[in-house]
Amino acid sequence: MKKSAIVTGASKGIGWALSKALLEHDFEVIGTSRSGVIPIEHEELHALKLDLTSGESIGNFANSLKAFDKQIDLLINNAGVGPDLRSPLPDEASFDATFDVNVKGTVMLTESIIEMVKKGGMIINVSSKMGSIAYCERSGAVAYRMSKSALNMYTKILANRYDGTYKIASIHPGWVKTTIAPDNIEHARLSPEESAAKMMDFILSDFRHGIYWDAETNQELEW
Ligand SMILES: NC(=O)c1ccc[n+]([C@@H]2O[C@H](COP(=O)([O-])OP(=O)(O)OC[C@H]3O[C@@H](n4cnc5c(N)ncnc54)[C@H](OP(=O)(O)O)[C@@H]3O)[C@@H](O)[C@H]2O)c1
Repeated sequence: MKKSAIVTGASKGIGWALSKALLEHDFEVIGTSRSGVIPIEHEELHALKLDLTSGESIGNFANSLKAFDKQIDLLINNAGVGPDLRSPLPDEASFDATFDVNVKGTVMLTESIIEMVKKGGMIINVSSKMGSIAYCERSGAVAYRMSKSALNMYTKILANRYDGTYKIASIHPGWVKTTIAPDNIEHARLSPEESAAKMMDFILSDFRHGIYWDAETNQELEW
């Protein structure tokens, strides 16, 4: 039977490339975006609406998923925002926007659908090296960095709660040419497809439960 994956934030960037890579690896993919549109033509791709800033939208998504009546093999919490990625100091609007999506929405979504993840399945939180406290040598992007540290803590919490039930990890996708920050397309090192290929290598490997992984350099990160 085909394996099934949920990828949040599949409309563009890393989530879009990951969805294509999963389809190429014969997964059935449920991809989400706020509009419900995913620009991928494939009969095994199901596009669903999800706005992580809205409890109602999360509830509707969970109900739609129940209607699919499928056990999920892989949940990839990829959707994320970074409005203060190039800001030296935090501001309230980007702090709220960042934490609503990267932390609160991601946690609430996961809690509302985790029972639909098959025992032995995987949960991958797309974090960032910028969430590592051990590697932090700069002072900007305050909300973004803190949101990814908080997401890493959630990975640890889930790993403790579901030890022996699911395999769970935080992953850094590398520095990727997407529109998450204004200069990423010009300066970043990896195309979304290159990042997705590296992330797929990790997902398909027998990775250690509860790990924080740098997909760009293929090594474990310190929290
Ligand atoms: N690019 C990098 O160098 C890099 C490095 C480290 C980590 N990351 C992480 O990788 C993940 C993907 O980033 P990306 O670079 O691919 O960014 P991106 O191209 O901006 O894509 C972000 C995705 O998140 C979705 N999204 C945004 N707001 C949302 C909301 N309120 N509810 C639900 N979905 C929402 C977007 O979908 P819609 O707008 O269509 O709804 C889009 O599909 C993020 O978690 C990011 O922090 C990226």
